[in-house]
Amino acid sequence: MDKLVIQGPTKLKGEVTISGAKNAAVAILPATLLIDGICKIENLPNISDVRTYCKILETLGAKITWFSDNEIEIDTRNIGCTQAPLDMTSRFRASYYLLGALLGRCGAAEVGIPGGCNLGARPIDQHIKGFEALGAKVDVAQGKISAKVKKLTGTSIYMDIVSVGATINVMLASVLAEGTTTIDNAAKEPHIVDVANFLNTMGADIRGAGTDVIKINGVKSLHGDTTYSVVPDQIEAGTFMLAAVASKGDILIKNCIPEHLDCITAKIVEIGGTVEDLGDSVRVSMNKRPNKAIVKTLPYPGFPTDLQPQMGVVLSVADGISTINESIWDSRFQYTAELNKMGAKIAPQGGKTAVFEGVKGLVGSQVCATDLRAGAALLVAGTIANGETHLYNLQHIDRGYENIEEKFRNLGAKIQRVSEPDETMCDT
Ligand code: EPZ
Repeated sequence: MDKLVIQGPTKLKGEVTISGAKNAAVAILPATLLIDGICKIENLPNISDVRTYCKILETLGAKITWFSDNEIEIDTRNIGCTQAPLDMTSRFRASYYLLGALLGRCGAAEVGIPGGCNLGARPIDQHIKGFEALGAKVDVAQGKISAKVKKLTGTSIYMDIVSVGATINVMLASVLAEGTTTIDNAAKEPHIVDVANFLNTMGADIRGAGTDVIKINGVKSLHGDTTYSVVPDQIEAGTFMLAAVASKGDILIKNCIPEHLDCITAKIVEIGGTVEDLGDSVRVSMNKRPNKAIVKTLPYPGFPTDLQPQMGVVLSVADGISTINESIWDSRFQYTAELNKMGAKIAPQGGKTAVFEGVKGLVGSQVCATDLRAGAALLVAGTIANGETHLYNLQHIDRGYENIEEKFRNLGAKIQRVSEPDETMCDT
């Protein structure tokens, strides 16, 4: 079991280049199943979720050629199987996109009940409602979800809650359906727009992605022979923005879309930091202790839940008492127990709110990544803490951040990955 050993404190300074978005990539890869041809994908983040997805696509009959760490070609002309391997699909959340993509391509799909980060209940009723509205029969039994349809027919679907996954899944299932599908109360995250752009580049007719009404006019087929580049990762960019603030540093964050970062920029300015919009990069600096703040996570364009733990690190050392209200997930404050081991004073008030009594500084400790973003947050905490931090459970971080320790090292962090074959202090 690997761990990161981090020596702090460090003021993070320098440049970092943001990778392609994980949550776009894990939807674009299954979306290739809708194409009867070959396509090339660039700016693909080299993370374990992407590598796992590629293996799953290969078991379904796709042929994948890697041109570099971030560039692949996928040939989906010979998809012969609609049953995705249960052990692999139940390991991560985004495997649910195979349902929409395989239903669209083959009229049938079977995947393991999706796993992923433990953030509380993660129902998929809105996905199922969407598939059923399009004419599919869906069964959930014995650890797997099966869906079948003779012919998908476009219809109007109102999402009872704003769901990233259900919006994308219904989009995937309806691209080749007969007629027009309308998704009302759709999610608007940058990765929704990116998946729609990918599909449109391949011949789909999707309009309104990025607003709360998406219209999909079914087409007969999607063509390949096209290259698509994955959108920069909003959450990775936000992680480095908040790392600059927490460490009182100065970071130029390259290959990002500043507009996607507006809500983070606004909070950083509110707590006393500086953000410069440079077109395809942002420069974030901080020269004092952050001010206290009230933060509420919301669907895009609100403050993202996937940056809540990283913001929690900033507020744990802010001047005054701050509050975070988590409105998306029931159990996203598990990291606060780890931060408290480092000297933070955070009191979760039930699952949805936590009160942060800012302390002057953190101290190094042994901590566990309880999920992906918690892991990134604790890494930032380790770089700003006095002394040595040992961060365990790196498999969570490796799922979603490409070369994370190298990127932090380039900013001055003293951080090493160390193998510890027998020792683990985490039971998550
Ligand atoms: C996506 O998860 C992301 N994952 C998550 O990122 C992110 O936290 C989340 O969106 C919110 O932005 C991927 O894109 C692979 P949702 P998803 O459906 O699609 C409820 C990360 O760290 N809901 O938008 O699963 C649900 O319980 C990860 O990168 C239903 O009730 O999230 C939640 O409260 C973690 N029924 C809310 O909606 C449903 O059918 C939003 O969930 C679906 C969702």
